[in-house]
Amino acid sequence: MLYKKDIKMISKDLIKLIKAEFVLDWYGIHGVSHWARVRINGLKLAEFTGANVKVVELFAFLHDSKRQNENKDKDHGLRAAEFAHKINDSLLFLDNKDLDLLTFACTHHSEGILKGDITVQTCWDADRLDLGRIGIRPNPQYLCTETAKRVEIIEWAYQRSKIEYKS
Ligand SMILES: [Fe+2]
Ligand SMILES: [Fe+2]
Repeated sequence: MLYKKDIKMISKDLIKLIKAEFVLDWYGIHGVSHWARVRINGLKLAEFTGANVKVVELFAFLHDSKRQNENKDKDHGLRAAEFAHKINDSLLFLDNKDLDLLTFACTHHSEGILKGDITVQTCWDADRLDLGRIGIRPNPQYLCTETAKRVEIIEWAYQRSKIEYKS
């Protein structure tokens, strides 16, 4: 389940719009089950990294929402960032600083970058910790934060990466 009682940033209206515009399989490898796991990964990491949880939650549900295919789609992060800009006044309500963090995290999430603001790094690690869904055990070399590199965190995320979340 999605831990609905805990969700503050992900409103029903936001999910409705994302779903209406999403062109891939809602329950596919880049769909809502992945986003729910990324959210939980990110919130777990944020307990230790001190990342901005508003940005972490929104990143989880937006970063892959504008993918046009399940393979190579190098601009999907940029499109997600543009989407975030477009709906900020009506659905996200982030201030400029938080919106900058979210759009930076979305734009560059699939470029393999390791350095950056701790909130951005936490978003990227939350995504990379879910690679088990495609049979890849996350490699600490490609993770940004010391928290995500911990053996027990990688194992926790890896085991959960095969769980389906239905909303
Ligand atoms: Fe992505
Ligand atoms: Fe992703």
